[in-house]
Order: sequence, then C-alpha cells, then structure tokens
Amino acid sequence: MNLLTVSDLSRNEIDYLIERARSLKERHSKGIPHHPLRGKTLGLIFEKPSTRTRVSFETAMYHLGGDAIFISHRDSQIGRGEPIKDTARVLSRYVDCVVIRTFGHEIIEEYARYSTVPVINGLTDTHHPCQVLADVLTVVEKKGGYRGLKVAWVGDGNNMANSWIEMASRLGFDLYLACPEGYEPERGILERARKEGTSRIEVVRDVEEALRDADVVNTDVWASMGREDEREKRLEAFREYQINYHVLRFAKEDTIVMHCLPAHRGEEITDEVIEGRNSVVWDQAENRLHIQKAILEWLLTGERV
Ligand code: CP
Ligand code: NVA
Repeated sequence: MNLLTVSDLSRNEIDYLIERARSLKERHSKGIPHHPLRGKTLGLIFEKPSTRTRVSFETAMYHLGGDAIFISHRDSQIGRGEPIKDTARVLSRYVDCVVIRTFGHEIIEEYARYSTVPVINGLTDTHHPCQVLADVLTVVEKKGGYRGLKVAWVGDGNNMANSWIEMASRLGFDLYLACPEGYEPERGILERARKEGTSRIEVVRDVEEALRDADVVNTDVWASMGREDEREKRLEAFREYQINYHVLRFAKEDTIVMHCLPAHRGEEITDEVIEGRNSVVWDQAENRLHIQKAILEWLLTGERV
C-alpha cells in the first residue's frame, strides 16, 4: 500500500486517518507514550526543500518509537543519476517505508513500482496528499465536520489545488477554485474527480464567486518550487487573486483561512489576514505532525479500516 495521491484512499480510510490523528493528538497532549513503530525506520528522500514535511515526519517517527533517516539528493547517489528503480530496490532492503518529495509525479510512481516497502508522497509537482489530509483534519476540528461546507481555493491550480479537488470528490463537500486563465488545475484530475464524486467542483475566474459564503478559504504561493523562473510573469497574472480583508468580506464571517505555508506575505495573502482572527495556519501546520503519525501507523502496522 502506498499513499501517492488522495485518490489512493477511500472515504472510509480518510475518515479513519482523521479520527486516528485526533486520538493520537490527544494522547500526545496527555503525555501518554505510544510506540507501535519500535524497530522501524523511515527514509526521507527529498529533492526539494522542506521545513514542515520533513520535521513532522521525522518527529512523528520518533514519537511512535521508530527512527528516521533524511536522504538529501545532494548527498546521495540519486543526485549523481543513479536510476530511481535501483534506489527503490536497494532502500527497500534497509528501511520500512519512504517519504519522497520530488518534481514530476511519474518519478514517485516509478519509485513505487520498484519499492517493496510503502511509499508516501511528500509533495510532487502535481499532488500533496499528506498536506490536504492535515488540512481536512483542521477543518474537522474547527468546523465540526466537512459535510455541507463550501471550500474556496484562490490562486494557482497547483499540486495543492489538485489534491483538494480529489479530497472534495472523496468527501463530498463543495469546492470553488478561482484561478487566472492558464493556471487552472489539471484537467484530467478535475474530470475524474467530477465523475467519481457527487460534490460540486467549479473552476471560476472571479474571486468573489469562489469566496461567496465560503466556510473555508485556501490559498498557496503563486510560484511553486521548480517554477521560480516564472515568478515575474506570475506576479502579474495573479495580481487580482490575493486573499486580503477586502475580498474576505465575501466569505462567511467565521470562515477559516488556510495556507499550507511557506507564505509570501503581500503576494497571495496579506500579513494582516495571515495574522488575523480567521487564520488557522499554525494549527494547520501543527496538524501535519498528528496526521503523519496516523499515516505511518496505518501503513506500517498493517492496521486497516
Ligand atoms: N507545507 C509544506 O509542505 O511545507 P514544507 O515545504 O516546509 O514541507
Ligand atoms: N505549491 C507549493 C507547496 C509548498 C508546500 C509548492 O509546490 O512549492
């Protein structure tokens, strides 16, 4: 079993992971030790920078009694061109699970084909499933559930947007994405999500339309990792797609504002909003840790829903 995209999970499995993360979070807050992964090792292969994903996975592993090894592409043979399929087969002989952060999604798919241990997507150009699981955990905590909610996405139709689309399709909440022309989410992902689920998933140009009466407002950087050379062009294209208090008045009064971080204040979100009363970004970031624990325990102990 791998976790490469949100679509790899059924609705029952997502509900299970959310509930399990909540219970592990409570257990941790009470200082109750829980070491189901004693003797297990997680490998983390990262070809892009990371703060949250790396540290939350490493800490999660330690909390659960296991160990973690960080493998930067710069210091390993991956950076010198050792084939993915060879790396996957060798690391499978050492570690019990791997988290990979890379560029093209086909790279992690190839790795998973050759790996004999579970592979977790720590972000590719097209998907960021663990982040969106943590996000839904946060939504459930703040809103008491996800049923009947309107979720808005404003900005780039990037990896995060794609994973939110798959999540909306699985869980059945409505998702409105406001994206500038040329920066929409992947068409194939959108079409499959609409076909497989019952939720309303709309891609619109107008920020107000996406935000109107929204319970949850999401945004992300305008230039994702690997797209930095397009920054100037994107600053221009996304100018009207900033989350600020002027546009936030279209959303519900008690809407929650989410950002997976890192944020570029003054670009996709203002400092005022990210530091303001609707923002839940720090709880959202903390929840990475709790959901990673649920994911690792689930994949490594063989517990199934
Ligand atoms: N949100 C997120 O994945 O952050 P990092 O890039 O710091 O891991
Ligand atoms: N869309 C962003 C997310 C960072 C966590 C990126 O891919 O850079």
